[in-house]
Amino acid sequence: MERLSTLGAWREYAGSQRAAGRRVGLVPTMGALHAGHSSLFEAAKQNGDVVLATIFVNPRQFNDVGDLNAYPRTPQLDHHTAEQHGVDCLVEPTLAEMWPDYPAPTSTTVSVRGISDTLEGAGRPGHFDGVASVVAKLFAVTGPCRAYFGEKDFQQIVVVRQMVRDLALDVEVVSCPIVRDGDGLALSSRNLLLSPPARTRGLALSRALRDVQSSRGPASAQRARMRQILEESDIDVAYAEVVDPVTLVPTVDDEVGERRALLAGIIDGVRLIDNAAVFVEAGRT
Ligand code: PAF
Repeated sequence: MERLSTLGAWREYAGSQRAAGRRVGLVPTMGALHAGHSSLFEAAKQNGDVVLATIFVNPRQFNDVGDLNAYPRTPQLDHHTAEQHGVDCLVEPTLAEMWPDYPAPTSTTVSVRGISDTLEGAGRPGHFDGVASVVAKLFAVTGPCRAYFGEKDFQQIVVVRQMVRDLALDVEVVSCPIVRDGDGLALSSRNLLLSPPARTRGLALSRALRDVQSSRGPASAQRARMRQILEESDIDVAYAEVVDPVTLVPTVDDEVGERRALLAGIIDGVRLIDNAAVFVEAGRT
């Protein structure tokens, strides 16, 4: 596995792979790698791409400095995981290279309006501007590629797809299924911050999603049911929504069809999110 840290070397590596007729599969991460990330590396490998993973804890997407400082960092383990799961090139750019003006604000911001302001964006103002800005930069340095994202961050994929479309970027966005622990908890780097009792309470997120997947019913009943299940586990609910999977517009009760249920809850100060495809039906609970 090649390891790089400068934007110049990274740009050159990706360019030389394309020149040799290979497709670059970019997997952007913030490290603290787990099996969800490994599934993205493996998906890229399976597609025949040269797997280029990045690890960069992007301060611009944290609206809370405490959250940024607490974000888990496991560099030694990450190198091992990347190597074991087929990463060809691991890029760990420095903060100075990515955001040379930091902590002063960077003048250029990519802002995907509307869909960035709801759900995660409503509770974390500026979060998706930070995500879109850094992902735009990762795409700019990598050049034409496939880019792999996990569906746990469902809204992030919606935002990135819209950005790619609006800016006509030469990037194919590939979304990959959520990877869960055996007991249902969606894998997340933030799970490392949970105490064992908090982790047990966190199982309510996937339980709530499974419940509305099987009970169907109108969107308002699904929202209420998910909220109830989270609150029973003493979770501070940020949102429990059912939305159109492309526009993220909340579903109203006379709609019928496949929608996306998204949840966010805070447990002992740790924010967990999860989501699943659900089917809404009018008039049943
Ligand atoms: O999903 C993440 O880990 C981050 O939001 C990303 C896409 C690497 C951008 O910093």
